[in-house]
Amino acid sequence: MQSKAIKKAKELLENEELVAIPTETVYGLAGNAYSTIAVKKIYELKGRPSNNPLIVHIKSRAYLDQVAQNIPEQAYKLAETFWPGPLTLVLEKQDRVPALVSAHKNTVGVRVPNHPLTLNLLEALDFPLVAPSANTSNHISPTCKAHVQASFGEKSPYVLDGGPCEAGLESTILGFKGSEILLYRHGVLSKELLSAFLGQEIVEHTHAPVPESPGMFLKHYAPHTPLYFYDDNAFKAAQEKNLRIGFLNFRAINPYINPENQRILSPLGSLEEAAKNLYRFLYELDALGLDLIFAEQLPPHGIGKAIHDKLYRASQK
Ligand code: TXA
Ligand code: MG
Repeated sequence: MQSKAIKKAKELLENEELVAIPTETVYGLAGNAYSTIAVKKIYELKGRPSNNPLIVHIKSRAYLDQVAQNIPEQAYKLAETFWPGPLTLVLEKQDRVPALVSAHKNTVGVRVPNHPLTLNLLEALDFPLVAPSANTSNHISPTCKAHVQASFGEKSPYVLDGGPCEAGLESTILGFKGSEILLYRHGVLSKELLSAFLGQEIVEHTHAPVPESPGMFLKHYAPHTPLYFYDDNAFKAAQEKNLRIGFLNFRAINPYINPENQRILSPLGSLEEAAKNLYRFLYELDALGLDLIFAEQLPPHGIGKAIHDKLYRASQK
């Protein structure tokens, strides 16, 4: 049975309006993927440059052929194992996907999100949903309803509230070039894990000079407060200037700093827990009106690589 909330979301989407939807990664700003009116509203509300394509969210693997074509064997293999889940595949586009969705490329990013409410919603709709993260362009991605509302203020769309996101970090994005498999964006599923699954090295393609995937743009995912990786000298200099400093640490609290201005990503040292807390803590630290935030570098393996990548981009001026 459909809940009231799903009915309301369905109605809005069928009327080419936008709805913020929960996924296992982050909240998405969703619209009918086949409606250029809805797609335009997404670009407008996010303030997103029109050269940054959107991910199409489909209800199941069986729907993949409707939006993509000439799909490589390896893509089917990945979809079978990891969908629903935090993996986006960039594939050759079907004509019915509007050019606006793919920023006029001949490819389209596709995934099946893993959240029961959103899967129910997709099941009730007869079109897929495009959904970029539900934040204004370049800002922190939202992992709960309150973040979406904070990001858009009065212009916030209806939010289908699915509670806090399980993973808290974006999907991993892969593309295919001949027999090569390219990593366009680090995300929840690590490159090591996917390479081992495929029995094939995945080629990192996340810092191209002309980004093929604007998640590659350096300045991205940033809080309003300047963020830097921790450095002894920079910390001393900031203290001497009496700046108000925030800390985003992996495991340990810094005894020299007001505990209220610190967030510990995972006291037990779990990278998964750190990923889940990352954006929430950035939102919280940002709300304190500090002069700067120092982030600790995390172990660069598994999902730690994706966390590091987000923090690195947030630290770029
Ligand atoms: O976890 C996620 O993927 C979330 C949830 C809501 O599904 N969505 C998300 O969307 O992170 P967004 O728009 O914030 O990031 C989408 C990324 C962008 O970096 C975009 O450039 C890339 O996907 N992308 C989409 N279509 C592409 C394509 N055809 N070729 C290359 N990159 C593409
Ligand atoms: Mg985003």
